[in-house]
Amino acid sequence: MNQKLLFARAYEREASRQIPEMARPKFHLSPCTGWMNDPNGFSFYKGEYHLFYQYNPYDTCWDTMHWGHAVSGDLLSWRYLPAAMAPNEWYDADGCWSGSAMEMPDGRQLLMYTGNRREGGATRENLQVQCLALGDGIDYEKYAGNPVLTAADLPDECSPYDFRDPSIWRESDGTYRAIVGTCTKERLGKLLLFSSEDGLRWRFESVFAENDGRLGLMWECPDFFMLDGKAVLLVSPQDMLPQDFEYHNGNGTVAFIGHLEDDGKRFVPETDHAVDYGIDFYAPTTILTPDGRRVMIGWMQNWDACQNAGRKDLLWYGQMSLPRELFLRSGRLYQRPIRELEEHRSRRVSYENVRVDGELRLPGVEGRMVDMEITIRPAPGCVYHKFEIRFMEDERFFTKLSYRPHESILRIDRKFSGSRRAYIHQRRAMVPNRGGELKLRMILDRYSVEVFLNDGEQTVTATVLTDLSATGISFFAEGQVEMDIDKYDLFQEVSREKV
Ligand code: FRU
Repeated sequence: MNQKLLFARAYEREASRQIPEMARPKFHLSPCTGWMNDPNGFSFYKGEYHLFYQYNPYDTCWDTMHWGHAVSGDLLSWRYLPAAMAPNEWYDADGCWSGSAMEMPDGRQLLMYTGNRREGGATRENLQVQCLALGDGIDYEKYAGNPVLTAADLPDECSPYDFRDPSIWRESDGTYRAIVGTCTKERLGKLLLFSSEDGLRWRFESVFAENDGRLGLMWECPDFFMLDGKAVLLVSPQDMLPQDFEYHNGNGTVAFIGHLEDDGKRFVPETDHAVDYGIDFYAPTTILTPDGRRVMIGWMQNWDACQNAGRKDLLWYGQMSLPRELFLRSGRLYQRPIRELEEHRSRRVSYENVRVDGELRLPGVEGRMVDMEITIRPAPGCVYHKFEIRFMEDERFFTKLSYRPHESILRIDRKFSGSRRAYIHQRRAMVPNRGGELKLRMILDRYSVEVFLNDGEQTVTATVLTDLSATGISFFAEGQVEMDIDKYDLFQEVSREKV
């Protein structure tokens, strides 16, 4: 095994011992040690889910990427495996960047990833190629024929300096396909389709989808799948311009719903919308579970919102979102938390028709690992102008979610969460006013909040690094609101005697 990987494995083994369990998210994957970005190689292999991730074991900031590795039986409790890849070859010397995984007919696991190296010239641009590694679920050998796709495989107008994030799948006839992000010299994103008979030798097929200039510039981390009879394409564009409250400035995530043409070689979009309306969600990738569910997981950060934002004392930075089951309804991609989460609910606290008029705290409603279902509506014969939930609250700090029905605006705001930096703290989303009624499911882990609105029609995700002692939850209304609430603790040890 190469020295760089051996060194990284020894380092992470030692360094991760310095991080107490309590200082990590409980059921969201965080890096073994150091820094994490995109989810990579999300797959089911040898009876377990495998999730790799963009990984810098040596510091809590982005640098030369490795692939971290974890496995899980239920997508909620993760066990770290040793780092899977280090940047040790000439073609990936400056980083093993994002990619995907699948099982080969001979039982080996295939990783397809981007090798990144900086060219020697004055501009030091990142030259990107696609590479393979094969392994047994723990140890991987880089393929002797690497790189398998290079600048020579690109159509003329595409840039080899932006050519990355292969997403691989297998067709029913056994052939392999992969889409890879690239862009034109003007930096307009294009997704290219490549095919292979054996998973090792690849050839260019077609331009699968392209950016007409409406949605950012370069398109990163594509993911393609069929769902409920439609073709769905996820991309994470860089450099977006805002469009009302649908898309915001900077890096974003887009779900296109459409269909395939030209024998599956071209994706034709029909509609698009944001995948998440919060602050921290990027580069999502999906898997088809053995029982047929399409499950998505994203990096629960965003490049524009994470600079200088970490807490060095935690010794890790970056988290994955909750795995989310996807389905289509009314032409939109709906999301709901993976159903396995419900098995970890305990101590239900429930209230019906509670009147909120001013500030309200409810006995038993608090905590930092919580699953809450809330429905609000105007109290009979009344109206309300604003409804607010504060959480991760103590005397000094809180994060809040507020809804103003007459504006149809929902806002997440972590300005008062204890952050001392001027990165992004708020985001607003357009949430239709249906007679003032709003349904939310809110999942708190130690350092994050994920809100599923109206049965998963929209989601709002944010990380919150407030000290763990802030466990308060309170409600507030301007006007008269009636609220139903079902609150559960998550992952609390319930002693046997009490059950
Ligand atoms: C997306 C991304 C990918 C790239 C990786 C590098 O967040 O920029 O396009 O492969 O991160 O870490």
